[in-house]
Amino acid sequence: MSINPYSLTIDLKACIMKPFKKRTQVRLSSLRDYFMDRKAVDDMLSSGKDLIIYEYFEYSNPESEGHVNIGVTIINPGRIGKEYYMTRGHYHEKSAAEVYLGLSGEGIILMQLKDGEAQALKIMPGKIIYVPPHWGHRAINTGNEKMIFFYMYPSNAGHDYQLVKEKGFSKIVIEENGLPKIIDNPRYKSRN
Ligand code: F6R
Ligand code: ZN
Repeated sequence: MSINPYSLTIDLKACIMKPFKKRTQVRLSSLRDYFMDRKAVDDMLSSGKDLIIYEYFEYSNPESEGHVNIGVTIINPGRIGKEYYMTRGHYHEKSAAEVYLGLSGEGIILMQLKDGEAQALKIMPGKIIYVPPHWGHRAINTGNEKMIFFYMYPSNAGHDYQLVKEKGFSKIVIEENGLPKIIDNPRYKSRN
């Protein structure tokens, strides 16, 4: 499908990308199964705090060969227990890579293969991260301010959220003595 050239604008102060086709806000209640400390999640939720953990603005293009989708993700600063705020994380259904570019704040992009082999790379303004095909990916805000990054991936990549929801990531990122630390995930299910 042929579409006309266009441009988009990222406003780092207002934390938006304009125009966008979809704005997704992800609240704590929908992330309960992803954090290690479920009691900490429940305590926050029962005190009436269903905070927005992250949101993303996406400008999607036709889901056909050759197009890419582009967008911006904003993760708020904070922790659930010791674990920093993070995205759900997913695998692409097709053999499709993704590129992230750090724009503001700092964090970690955690990546893993389906056998659990993991790699973690720091992201900060100006840092480009290449997520190769087959690597599941999750973004974690380890700083005190909003972490913002640009992303781009093939429009026909597809998203598999189920595997991460069921098994988790083999590593998690927690705060220890004021610093981020990557540890084995005690809840990780390495087998089916
Ligand atoms: C798209 C992608 C990112 C994430 C976004 C939110 O393929 O990797 O744009 O979609 O950072 O994370 P998820 O989708 O894991 O909730
Ligand atoms: Zn992705």
